[in-house]
Amino acid sequence: MARTKKQSFQTPKGTFDILPSEQKYWEKVREVFKNVSMHYGFGRIDTPIFEDADLYEATVGETTDIIERQMYVFKSKGKDTLALRPEGTASIARSYVENGMINLSQPVKLSYIGPMFRYEQPQSGRYRQFHQVGFEILGDQDPVYDAQIINVFLKFCAQLGLKNLNVEVNSIGCKQCRASYRTQLLRYYKPRLRGVCADCKKRAKLNPLRLLDCKEEKCQPIKANAPSLVDNLCKECHDHFKLVLEFLDELAVPYSLNPHMVRGLDYYTKTVFEVFLEDEHLEGGSEKTHKKSKLAIGGGGRFDDLIKMVGGKSTPAVGAALGMERVIGVMKKQGIKVSDHSKPQVFLVQVGDLGKKKCVKLFDELSDAGLHVLESFGRNSLSSQLRIADKFGAKMALIIGQKEAIDGDVIMRDMESGAQENIPIEKIVKTIKERIKK
Ligand code: HAM
Repeated sequence: MARTKKQSFQTPKGTFDILPSEQKYWEKVREVFKNVSMHYGFGRIDTPIFEDADLYEATVGETTDIIERQMYVFKSKGKDTLALRPEGTASIARSYVENGMINLSQPVKLSYIGPMFRYEQPQSGRYRQFHQVGFEILGDQDPVYDAQIINVFLKFCAQLGLKNLNVEVNSIGCKQCRASYRTQLLRYYKPRLRGVCADCKKRAKLNPLRLLDCKEEKCQPIKANAPSLVDNLCKECHDHFKLVLEFLDELAVPYSLNPHMVRGLDYYTKTVFEVFLEDEHLEGGSEKTHKKSKLAIGGGGRFDDLIKMVGGKSTPAVGAALGMERVIGVMKKQGIKVSDHSKPQVFLVQVGDLGKKKCVKLFDELSDAGLHVLESFGRNSLSSQLRIADKFGAKMALIIGQKEAIDGDVIMRDMESGAQENIPIEKIVKTIKERIKK
């Protein structure tokens, strides 16, 4: 079909450019990601941005929102059905099996950072391309690791300076306890099905546990009184959850129990959790009311059946992921200051042809010495170059005019105080490094 050619372009709906002025936040999150991964022994892994679409259908669950409505699925020229990854855990499980990680010392701890894709209705904190930071511990069923994942998550947030976070935890048990719970849940819902949304009617038939994941207003009162899974756990799951909570107490992690949390992906077993920012905002038209809203900045849980689902041996695992856009949104909202590494340490100012020649060479010497240098070689006026140095927040300016070039000097100017001194050009790299260190 012939398409009318567009004259102008915007980012596709639900996506955005990360401009230079925003990069300091992203850098900060990446820096904390590296720190936390290193301190808690997580090895970085990068998996492809697209995978076999079946990988997600087999693991995330056919009746979940992600699979039913949100996946970007496409046919490749070789006729493979591929999907842009909507989340990271299925790929981690696939990679664990494909790369024989079962033969490594267990547990295997992996962390990742990168873009994910979900076809969602864009709104604040919800995008079609978004980024996650994830931590997964594979190969150990000990409840200490469930608590460690939650702790790592909170350490991550603490290193970013985030406040007012609330961890909600629940256990959704294993296949065994879920089977009998499903019967109970259906017994409760059956006489109430008239009052629930169309999706819930479908959920009752296909995947009753998803009834607890419904966000529709009209389903909330019914959902609130539904029997809870945590009261129906088998002994093993009950004891496991009890220990998770005891470890969380030991680590002084503040949490609250949410017996109705099931999470939006089907691969979970036993512990599930989400981390929210408690946020008060104004709602309504002329009569505005303060309403507390909850924004999930991350979540996770145990997924003891997932590795088997992707063709591996039964291997317990637990993990979590947080949304970078949401975390950065909170950082901004809470006024968290982030140092801007893009600020130049030195700005070169040249006046006259000879000055410019000396500066071109000095630029390389300074950056070879590891300094962050900026210039505006296209300008000749001293004042306009100093103005730019100021705008970029440079610490020092080095000025070479005709006289300095002939004398073999450089004027070193402290941009904050305005103090200036002449330094011989052969000593300038050493001198400026010492000054910046101070
Ligand atoms: P999830 O809850 O689907 O879990 O996503 C984790 C986080 O990603 C969310 O809490 C949210 O911060 C962010 N997020 C999700 N969708 C969007 C969106 N459309 N726009 C912006 N941010 C979004 C998972 O993905 C699991 N793989 C987590 C996990 C790891 N479980 C075990 N290991």
